[in-house]
Parts: sequence; structure tokens; C-alpha cells
Amino acid sequence: MSPNLILAPLRGITEVEFRNIFVRFFPGFDRAVAPFISTFQGSKVKPAKFKDLLPENNTSLPVVPQILSKNADRFLATTAMLADLGYTTVNWNLGCPYPMVANKLRGSGLLPHPEMIESFLEKVCSQPLAVSVKIRLGRREAEEIYALLPIFNKFPLAEVIIHPRTGIQMYDGTVDLDTFGRCLELCRHPLVYNGDITSPAIYEKLAARFPTINSWMIGRGALANPFLPAQIKGCKLPDNPLRTLSDFHDALLTCYRDMLSGPSPVLGRLKGLWFYLAGSFADGRKILKKIQKTKKIEPYLEITREVFNHGSWQPEAGEENPWKP
Ligand SMILES: Cc1cc2nc3c(=O)[nH]c(=O)nc-3n(C[C@H](O)[C@H](O)[C@H](O)COP(=O)(O)O)c2cc1C
Repeated sequence: MSPNLILAPLRGITEVEFRNIFVRFFPGFDRAVAPFISTFQGSKVKPAKFKDLLPENNTSLPVVPQILSKNADRFLATTAMLADLGYTTVNWNLGCPYPMVANKLRGSGLLPHPEMIESFLEKVCSQPLAVSVKIRLGRREAEEIYALLPIFNKFPLAEVIIHPRTGIQMYDGTVDLDTFGRCLELCRHPLVYNGDITSPAIYEKLAARFPTINSWMIGRGALANPFLPAQIKGCKLPDNPLRTLSDFHDALLTCYRDMLSGPSPVLGRLKGLWFYLAGSFADGRKILKKIQKTKKIEPYLEITREVFNHGSWQPEAGEENPWKP
């Protein structure tokens, strides 16, 4: 059976413009989870927050909205607005590891508090939208998950997406596949695996180890090698992959120049992508350093044209990957 591939939410990178342009050039993803929106005091959320989720902007790839919140009433006020937009599922972010978020008992900060998670789910699971959760194994200890799964099992969740690291681990160390395997035995909901899928070979190994998993979420690996979802589905690379990458990049640049004012935010967005993409080229670190130093579009374009015209693209080598643990 062909796997169901989900583009991970990467805030600041995989917003709607990126998602639309990405799927124009690179097939393979079946759906996406959008980067989180936060809930705010009061019941109204600014319409600008929903720009990423407007159905008319999201026709090329089905998207599930994601909410970061510890307040069930505000969550419900936001889901009511999402229901008005036509959404039928919403994802609850229980994984964000950043201390600024987690210290306020949001994202992975809630994971050591099963009782809070239970009373939150009691309130939010009786509204019309189906709820899925995206979690890490725990905030500090992987074992925290074992107190959570029986709670998740009580509610009619649409799915449970697990990134098998702890919050304090951030992106260091390795994914904990043994604990993920235990979760698979203990969870009655469909599980989605997420974490460190960076090559078809790594996907194959995971798929062989977890044959009952059919949905896989991929984030950084698809930014480093945008052909990865299609390769996982058995498609061959185009004859000239660098040309496709270059066309994708140019479309993004044009879009960001139209949308954002001044070189700094435009380059900021593109540098976010290069942090991952550069690692798939020989000399990736050098390329990234040069790109990160640029402040104007012209010198930036000189460097990137050189990379796309003469760079050595070797996504499987990995040695030069600055983001890999
Ligand atoms: C820059 C960045 C932004 C992220 N933003 C979100 C987010 O908005 N919501 C979320 O649930 N996860 C977020 N994540 C986590 C990813 O969705 C994903 O769980 C993580 O990168 C592990 O998957 P990967 O190894 O395939 O990248 C973010 C990760 C990164 C690196």
C-alpha cells in the first residue's frame, strides 16, 4: 500500500505560500499540518492569523490546522472559526519544545501533566471538529508518554502523531524507536510516525520495523531533499534535479518579494530553507555560511545561481548537514 505522507508543520517556513509552491514542483505529499496558531485572550482571533488557513489559499494540498493552547475555552472559540471555514479536523500541538512555550505549560510543557490534558480533552472533544494530537514522548522523560496513552485512548481522537524525542532533547540525540514501538502496542488510535526521515533508505527501515504504520510525517528531510516524498513513493528523480530545485527557489523568491517588503524578510524566509537545503550539497556548510551573510538580494542571487548551476547535489551524503544531530 502506498504510504500516506504528511508535510510537517515548520513555523516560519511551511506557511501556505511555501506549501503551494512546493507541491507545484515536488509531488508525493498527501496532506499537510499547518504551523500552529496560538489562541489569545477573548474569543476573537485576528483574521490575519487565519490567512494561512483560508480554504481558497489551500486548494493544492489538503491541510489540517494546528492550535497551540492550554485553554480549552479559547481552543473552542478558535475551532468554531475553523469550522466556519469548512475544516473538519484540528490538531492540538503538544510537542513544541521551546522553553518560552513549554515553561508556560503549552506544547510539550503540558506532557508531564496528564490530568490537565485529560480535562482539556474532555472539553474539546465534544465539539463538531475531530481532534488529533501531535506530541513528543514527554517533556523531560520518554516514560511520560505511558501516563498519556490511556488518556488518549478514552477520547475519540482522529490520530496521534508522535515525534519520539523528549521536549528538552529539542532535536539532539536520536529518535527513541523502542519507546515508539511500545506506543504502537498501547495506543488504540491511528499513529503517525514523525522524526528524522531524511532518505528513502531510512524510510524503508522504519517501514519494515513498523509495518502497521501507514502515515508518516516528514519535515526537515523534505526541506533538505524536496524530492524525498516522491522517492519514497517509488518515483525516479527528474533528469536535471538542480534545474527543478532552481525553478522552485525562483518561484519562492518571486512570491516572497511580492508578499514581503524589503530584502531582509525575503532573505530571512529563504535562509530558513537554506539551513536545510544547503546540507544536500557538497560544501554545504560553506554555502550556508555565505548565504547567511548576505543582506541584499543581488549578492544572494549570485551565490544561489552558482550553487544551482555548478553545485554538487548529493542529498544522501549527509556529512555536511549542519542541522543533523
Ligand atoms: C523551524 C521549525 C518549526 C517548527 N514548527 C512547528 C509547528 O508550528 N508545529 C509543530 O507541531 N511542530 C513544529 N515543528 C516540529 C516539526 O513539525 C517536526 O515535528 C520535527 O521537525 C521533527 O520532524 P522531522 O525530523 O521530519 O523534521 C517545527 C520544527 C522546526 C525545525
